[in-house]
Amino acid sequence: MSVKILVFAGSLRKQSYNKQLAKVLANCAEKAGAEVTYVDLADFPMPIFNEDDEAENGIHENALKLKQMMNDSDGFLITSPEYNGSYSGLLKNTIDWASRQADGESVLQSFKNKYAAIFATSPGAFGGLRGLGQLRLLLSGIGTTVLADQVAIPKAAEAFDEQGLLVSEKRLQTLQRITTELVKTCNRMKLD
Ligand SMILES: Cc1cc2nc3c(=O)[nH]c(=O)nc-3n(C[C@H](O)[C@H](O)[C@H](O)COP(=O)(O)O)c2cc1C
Repeated sequence: MSVKILVFAGSLRKQSYNKQLAKVLANCAEKAGAEVTYVDLADFPMPIFNEDDEAENGIHENALKLKQMMNDSDGFLITSPEYNGSYSGLLKNTIDWASRQADGESVLQSFKNKYAAIFATSPGAFGGLRGLGQLRLLLSGIGTTVLADQVAIPKAAEAFDEQGLLVSEKRLQTLQRITTELVKTCNRMKLD
């Protein structure tokens, strides 16, 4: 049984650097032998989470679709823009929706016993590093084990070429190493 990895970026922007990075990571995960699903969150729009709305209408249909993909996955590759020193509001809202317990699910089923590697890129000098510590804390708190290694890529405008591929071969090797570690970790846990 192959390891299933879900890949998504915390940006809706069409030309998002983080989406470019997510696609590079998806490719790395495929090379590591995983069955990979790349999701553009723009295809799963959700309102800002509101408990009144949820009480009236239930969990949003796009949240349910995303949760199903998460439940079917062993691990996540997540990239996030840094907004004001933190990960994006889109990512928080998506995770808030996905954390809700759907019918027939256990508590936090979409996150518990999952593994993740987290990444960021930004046009700035720190590459979104400040948001990653907070994203790690959030995911760890809801049951997802986050690999120690993470990467924040600065100067995003120069880091990717016109095809959205990474310019630096060395950086690509680092992403491949971390992604392979995620796939191997998920594989070990599946065998357990
Ligand atoms: C509201 C807002 C706040 C931002 N704050 C930061 C920041 O704290 N650090 C940073 O490196 N870039 C910051 N940026 C710039 C983003 O990193 C940049 O827009 C980036 O391209 C967004 O990611 P994306 O290309 O994946 O959409 C901010 C942008 C916006 C719109």
